[in-house]
Amino acid sequence: MGEERRQKDLREEAKEVFKKFYERTKDIQRATTETVKEIAERTMKGVGPTRERVREITEGIVESVQRTFKDISSKASEVVAGVLEGVEEASKRECLRIIKERRSITYFDPGREVPDELIKEILNVAALTPSGYNLQPWEVIVVKSKDKKKKLREICYNQAKVEEASANIVIVANLKAAEEHVDRVLDSWIQLGYIKEEEREALKERILKSWESPERRKRKAIRDASMFAMSLMIVARFYGLETHPMEGFDEARLKRFLKIPRDRIVPMIVAIGYRHPEKELLPRAYRFTFDEFGKIV
Ligand SMILES: Cc1cc2nc3c(=O)[nH]c(=O)nc-3n(C[C@H](O)[C@H](O)[C@H](O)COP(=O)(O)O)c2cc1C
Repeated sequence: MGEERRQKDLREEAKEVFKKFYERTKDIQRATTETVKEIAERTMKGVGPTRERVREITEGIVESVQRTFKDISSKASEVVAGVLEGVEEASKRECLRIIKERRSITYFDPGREVPDELIKEILNVAALTPSGYNLQPWEVIVVKSKDKKKKLREICYNQAKVEEASANIVIVANLKAAEEHVDRVLDSWIQLGYIKEEEREALKERILKSWESPERRKRKAIRDASMFAMSLMIVARFYGLETHPMEGFDEARLKRFLKIPRDRIVPMIVAIGYRHPEKELLPRAYRFTFDEFGKIV
């Protein structure tokens, strides 16, 4: 059965359950009122029921209330479980939609700003990106002020989106991440019990060795920083924002402009902002399919 159809059936069932609950409580209320009225009338006429009979009647009412609640609550929890399952299914579909509908947005709304707090939140979620030895060799510089964006546009060969986007996230790959981050990584592993204190030095040596060659260091830093950039583009979509990755910039000028040290590389800049409400985006260009780019061996 289709998910939508199942959800509709569940909603119908939930309506039925609540309707039944309402009817049953009305029945109980009616029966209780009548019984109390009858007892009162009989008492006034001097032919009141015995204490035994009153207890019997009261227990009957209580039992009936309890039965109703039991029936209804087991049915209701079934319905609620079904609805929750549906919500989970829908959120899975939503995740896929977010990934499938991401585009490199050419037209940002120049009048809509993304608050700093939201940018920070997105970057903090993106920081959950995996990295080799968890070294997290990425840094960012968020270029947001009007005059800095203007200058950055020039550096990006006059790409208009740089100025129209709310901000530009300069992704920086840290070639010194092993030396700078290894102790923090190892501290956390020891604290969490991943490794023992006595294993620390040998592991540290191994990590630093794997970063020794300049070529490998560069590859590792750029690889992880680029994965971070991809994560941020997906997370941004979740918050209703759009992005555009860019490699079209003069890296030497950019480094001078933002005072980025020599032991850092800029794999890309990601423009971020809200989509322009009126301008049309071109359809998505051709994507190779698995049969063209992959094989299972
Ligand atoms: C690392 C990287 C650098 C890119 N640089 C630029 C750029 O400088 N200017 C530009 O207009 N598009 C740039 N793009 C966007 C690509 O052209 C775009 O992702 C591709 O055409 C697919 O379109 P889509 O993202 O809408 O699916 C870049 C994309 C990536 C991943």
